[in-house]
Amino acid sequence: MLLQYTEAMTTERPEANESWDRHYADERDAAWLYRELARVDTNAERGALFGRLAVVEDHHTARWEELFRDAGRPLPAYRVSWRTRMLAWIARTFGPASVLPLILAEEGREVQAYLGLARHSTHQQTHKAAAEPCLRLQ
Ligand SMILES: [Fe+2]
Repeated sequence: MLLQYTEAMTTERPEANESWDRHYADERDAAWLYRELARVDTNAERGALFGRLAVVEDHHTARWEELFRDAGRPLPAYRVSWRTRMLAWIARTFGPASVLPLILAEEGREVQAYLGLARHSTHQQTHKAAAEPCLRLQ
């Protein structure tokens, strides 16, 4: 698996496509959900961890906003997804621990999508934005 960026891959502008809209919304959804989990968790230590994860997702969101700007692509309209609202409802009703397996599965799908984006990107910043969250997991 090639995740290393090489100068030979460089293009001047990132090549945006509709998959970017989904990645951007996913990052915002993740930040919103982790914030909600931090708010409702009665376990202070775990709540603080959710708060830190929300900040990480904010950084991912900011990275995407930078890429959209560089590509000249307008940011898509954003609303918290129905699925994310449902996860928050489950967490409020049954406790944050009840949604952790679902969140882990979602994070796994996100990593797979980012790996695909990193493999096909010829733009350095796009490649980095896609690969860095994956590399942290290795
Ligand atoms: Fe993220």
